[in-house]
Amino acid sequence: MSQTLAIIKPDAVAAGTAGKILAHLEAAGFRVRSLKMTRLTADQAGRFYAVHRERPFYGSLVAYMTSGPCIPMILEAEDAVPKLRETIGATDPAEAAEGTVRKLYAESKERNAIHASDSPENAAIETAFFFATQDRIGL
Ligand code: CMP
Repeated sequence: MSQTLAIIKPDAVAAGTAGKILAHLEAAGFRVRSLKMTRLTADQAGRFYAVHRERPFYGSLVAYMTSGPCIPMILEAEDAVPKLRETIGATDPAEAAEGTVRKLYAESKERNAIHASDSPENAAIETAFFFATQDRIGL
């Protein structure tokens, strides 16, 4: 078993689809190992997405991610990182496969309902970003 980090983003929380997304992830075989609701500050969102700092959408991305509460969570499954990327679908919902979380719930390429770590290394970094050691269940 391995773990990854997901965030149900502010658009989905505001739309009231967080529960449906959580149910979708559990039905896909993920076990929730930790979860909370939080509202990111601009500093936190900027640091979380620092890799995108030079991209034209960076300012808009930080504004969106701080626009309301989000729900970071630790998910566990076999091959959790690639399995979750497949379950959520492509960044742009217009390109996401049928039945994926983003196809079902995302509004746009930016307001795309959910984030998932793109590698085991980043999963460890992003998990530590949101969860204290005592809140990381099953490690
Ligand atoms: P995420 O998987 O969390 O990683 C980076 C985020 O930046 C992405 O989801 C989108 O929310 C946003 N993003 C990526 N590409 C674009 C783009 N071309 N235009 C606007 N937002 C984007």
